[in-house]
Amino acid sequence: MQLRDNGLRFSPITIVLHWVVVILLLSIIGLGIALSQSVDDAQKLEYSHLQNLLGTILFCISIYRFWARITSYHPLPLGTPNPVEVIASRSVAAALALAMVLLPLAAWLTKCAAGETVGLPGGWAIPAPFGPSVEAHHLFGILFKTGATAFLAGLALHIFGALKSHLILKNDALKRMLGKHVEL
Ligand code: HEM
Repeated sequence: MQLRDNGLRFSPITIVLHWVVVILLLSIIGLGIALSQSVDDAQKLEYSHLQNLLGTILFCISIYRFWARITSYHPLPLGTPNPVEVIASRSVAAALALAMVLLPLAAWLTKCAAGETVGLPGGWAIPAPFGPSVEAHHLFGILFKTGATAFLAGLALHIFGALKSHLILKNDALKRMLGKHVEL
């Protein structure tokens, strides 16, 4: 099995992890919405523990993914795209991969600074590296919000690029990321 991306194609690991990250991200956002709507404290705690668990899994996968992205070749683009677009789209993809390492970290540090226990299902908890602090809470809160806003803008651009390739340019970029074998 091809373990790393090369100039000709993405590895199956890259493809599977890309969509696992999309599912994890959507689940974390969905749990955040459910948390804000719920009025039952026990249910809120359950959602929050599940969200912390998914965030931890996302963080671990993303460390590997960011390392793999910056240490392997990115497959050649399909069609004859403008070089500026290629550089921009690859930079956005690498930034999205990095954001998936930094945002869970910032969310964890924000909760620790607020004095919240970062609980996991089954009664487990992630230990806090420091105690509650108003200043640290403020700082990590700002970093998280700024990072999340930049991430969402980058993600919108990334999805726009994928849809443009599929619907307007009618190339196989999206199908390649869904596992289709594309000859270059
Ligand atoms: C519905 C949402 C998404 C769609 C339709 C989508 C689509 C794509 C496509 C078509 C490519 C291949 C680009 C190429 O051929 O060079 C790609 C690559 C990539 N995407 Fe997404 N993407 C989505 C969500 C995300 C999210 C949430 C992230 C956040 C980490 C992300 C990060 C990346 C990265 C880092 C790459 C480069 C390959 C890799 O290292 O995994 N994408 N995406």
